[in-house]
Amino acid sequence: MGELTFSIIKPDAVANNKIGDILKMISDSGLTIKATKMIQMTKVQAEGFYAVHKERPFFGELVEYMISGPCVVSVLEGDNAIKRYRDLMGATNPAEAAEGTIRKAFGASIEANASHGSDGPDTAKVEVSYFFSSLELVN
Ligand code: CMP
Repeated sequence: MGELTFSIIKPDAVANNKIGDILKMISDSGLTIKATKMIQMTKVQAEGFYAVHKERPFFGELVEYMISGPCVVSVLEGDNAIKRYRDLMGATNPAEAAEGTIRKAFGASIEANASHGSDGPDTAKVEVSYFFSSLELVN
């Protein structure tokens, strides 16, 4: 089994009907989608998910944004999946993201930046298990 990482297609991208385009970019990059589902986060869930950012000035707005509409959460698998997915997403700020990346194609602002991906092995484990049970990870 390859490395696992966790992905969110954020409310802006879902509202703009980009779920299919983004999942296609993920598949075309060679990563395997192990599990995926659409969710509407509650405030408590979003605050818990982004708890590492709770002292940041943008925390309140980030939480409000993430609960403003449905998201698509997924578990991705592949060799070096965490870094590969971060490379596919591009820079956090879409204005700085490279051509061919998800955020360049679909991000509107640093907040409405189309996607989230785990930033390391420890966060990937926490984030996958925050939204998925082991029974949902299809083999
Ligand atoms: P994400 O990978 O989901 O992790 C935290 C998010 O905070 C980040 O993507 C951005 O969308 C969001 N965010 C909003 N404002 C800022 C900011 N000023 N700096 C960094 N991240 C920000």
